[in-house]
Parts: sequence; C-alpha cells; structure tokens
Amino acid sequence: MKLTILGGGGFRVPLVYGALLGDHAEGRVSRVTLYDTDAGRLAAVARVLREQAAGVPDAPGTVVTDDLDEALRGADFVFSAIRVGGLEGRAADERVALDEGVLGQETVGAGGIAFGLRTVPVATALARRIARLAPDAWVINFTNPAGLVTEAMSRHLGDRVIGICDSPVGLGRRIARVLGADPDRAWIDYVGLNHLGWVRGLRVGGRDELPRLLGDPALLGSFEEGRLFGPDWLRSLGAVPNEYLHYYYFNREAVRAYREAEQTRGAFLREQQEGFYARMKDPEAPALATWDRTRAEREATYMSENREVAGAGEREESDLGSGGYEQVALALMRAVARDERATLILNVRNRGTLSVLDADAVIEVPCLVDANGAHPVAVDPLPYHAVGLVTAVKAVERAVLDAADSGSREAAVRAFALHPLVDSVSVARRLVEGYTRVHPGLAYLDRP
Ligand code: G6P
Ligand code: MN
Repeated sequence: MKLTILGGGGFRVPLVYGALLGDHAEGRVSRVTLYDTDAGRLAAVARVLREQAAGVPDAPGTVVTDDLDEALRGADFVFSAIRVGGLEGRAADERVALDEGVLGQETVGAGGIAFGLRTVPVATALARRIARLAPDAWVINFTNPAGLVTEAMSRHLGDRVIGICDSPVGLGRRIARVLGADPDRAWIDYVGLNHLGWVRGLRVGGRDELPRLLGDPALLGSFEEGRLFGPDWLRSLGAVPNEYLHYYYFNREAVRAYREAEQTRGAFLREQQEGFYARMKDPEAPALATWDRTRAEREATYMSENREVAGAGEREESDLGSGGYEQVALALMRAVARDERATLILNVRNRGTLSVLDADAVIEVPCLVDANGAHPVAVDPLPYHAVGLVTAVKAVERAVLDAADSGSREAAVRAFALHPLVDSVSVARRLVEGYTRVHPGLAYLDRP
C-alpha cells in the first residue's frame, strides 16, 4: 500500500510514521510519500523518520517531493494534514478575535471561521486534484477545522474522504477506564460535529453504564472532562461533552483566560516549532530525541488555560503519550485495506443519521468501517440543547463554504455573525475587516 501525506513536513508526521512502523501485517503501508511546499520542513521531518526507522527491517520506505501530481499518482491512501498560513496564521486568528473580545481558538468560534475561510479554498483545490489523479484513493483528512474541511472535500470526493479527530476517542477511552470497562468492547454513544459532540451513553453487554458515572462525583472528578466541566454541570446535562465544548459552556472565563495569557496557543507553538525546525538544520542535533521533547512539551501544555479556569490541574500521565490521532488513522486504513470490520468515531456525510441535518452535512459519529468505506451507525436523536448548537454551527460552516465558493464578503460576515460565540453583527463585520487585513490568503473575499 502506498500512502501520501500532504503536509509531509508537518510536526505530527512522525506520530503517523511511528504507528506504521508497528504494523507488520500483510497489506500494510510499504511506502510513504511526503509532499510539502516547504523543503526545509520536509528535510527536518525526513531526518526524524530516518532515526525512527533505524533497526526496523521492514520499515516503510519514504520519498519526499514538492511535486503534487507526482505525490498523488498511484497513492492508495492520501492523508491531508496541511496548515494554510502556518502557525503564524493561527496566532493571527487568535489575536484578531481576542482584540474584539471573542474567542480566537483554532477550530472554535471566530478563530475557527477565519482558519476555515483560509483553508477551504486550498483543501478544495487539493480534493479536485486528487479526484483527477488518484480517483480510487481513500482520503483521510486531519486538516482542521476537520469537520468543515472534510465537508468541503466531500463535494469533490464523495464518501472517499473521511475526517478524523482524536478527541472523541480519547474521551471514550477515559470514560471507559473510569468505569472499569474495556474501551475496545464498550459501545460509545457519541455524536455531533467535530469538536462539538457529546457522549450520551456507554454500553457494556447491553447495559448503559453512563448513569453510574454521572451519579458518582468521585468518579466524575477522576478524569479530564469531569474536572473540566465539573460534576454538577455534567449531571445536569446528562452527558459528557467533548473537551472543546468548554469554550461554549464556560466561554466568558475561557476568553478572559486567553486574553490574559502571556502568549496565545498559536504564538507559543509558533515559537516552539521554529525552535525545532531551526535545530534540525544542525546535522549534529539528535532528530528523534529533539522532536520527542518538543512533542511532550506540546502535549503537556494542551488546553492549559481551560484547565486553569476549571481548576482541573495538570493533564494525566496516560493522556500525554498521544496515540489517539495516529492510531485512529491506522485503524481506519487497516479496516479499509483489509476489509477488517471496525467501529470508529469519524467525520462522514450524515446521510440520514441526524434528522435535523441534510444528507451532505458532515457529522462526527460512530461508523462501521470495511472495504467499502465508513458507514455511519444509527443513533438516538440529539436533545434540543445539542440540536441548537449543532444546527447553528452547521449554518456557520455552510456560510464559510458559500464565502469560499463565491468570494462573497457578505457570506463571510454571515458566518461570523451566526456563530453562537460572536455576540454582535458589528463585531462580525469588524472581524472580517481585521482578518482580511492580516491574512493575504483571504484576499479572495474582495471579489465583487
Ligand atoms: C486535539 C485536537 C486536534 C488538535 C490537537 C492539537 O487532539 O483534537 O484537532 O490538532 O489537539 O492541539 P494543539 O493546540 O496542540 O495544536
Ligand atoms: Mn481534533
């Protein structure tokens, strides 16, 4: 099997390669092509991969290229993991929003919309190219905002593009662990949009164990989301939300903490990664060790402002090792390539799963995966509070897709103004002005 990674110079590529190194079964990935527009980043990541592969006799071979067509031809799987505008762009997304007093997170609120407006045109062009040059390839989208970007790509690739995220998997595993259940055997009733979903039940042997968790403050205090949201709110909600819902349910506190922070997340990561890629220019530097140290620091500081607001303390050791992201990708590839049935929470087109959304809306839901792709599993309807958020955010995503298609500034304003975390149409107008000023990638919004 041949795998192509778009954004092959990205910092998290070694996670994926590390997972591939552990797969020795027949039909595994035997060649990885790294495509990137930045030769320096490609060379740095290629060095890390070489050190990872040392001593592994059947390690997949790697090729690096800056030629997109060459990268796509003959690929069985394409991972899309790009960051349009880089971390510089992410930091600007945060700054412009925070200056207006609204959230500037990478995927949630104004920041997510700005990132989406920049990314959708690029992801759409890639999807078109893939549809031409590798029409039989399966495309796995990691690019954030993952749900929106997957929907944009699905307009050209249909159900051949599948979006992934590690946060629902991590949440399901943590809940299962706390309940003493085997996460691989439990049925996790999770549904929503990417970074906007809820665990409504966890069934073991046909019995829902979630009420036991919700009724026990000690158990609720023993895992990340329990501490983040607090036992009272979780009991009242009757579900456990994805960690990204902290930005909604505790928005005022999160915005204040992000405004007061010394550095935004994007600015911190930009500095940290600049350091890493610069260090990789020194041929004496140990590539894998330097990468792993950088990765561990990134993991440890993930969502630290939210944890601080909630008084949730440090992350747990078991949540720091990563493993979610690349394991979902590997499990998905194995299920498709070998027709090994698996149930995974993925971003796919709704078809009829959630009746409040149309068939083409990409949602995040448990899917049965086999050689024919990912098939969403029927789930109970969403409660009204969740319908409200999910449909409001889907309307925002549709406005982003509309703006990206047409270049309409009005559609971009609508995207910001309709978001539940943007509290005024005037703010939305100023956000569009602010973002178009700082991002060259948004120049298309001036089209008449
Ligand atoms: C989680 C999210 C991803 C995100 C990652 C890294 O795993 O699900 O979508 O890319 O965190 O976040 P960071 O703030 O470290 O870039
Ligand atoms: Mn994610």
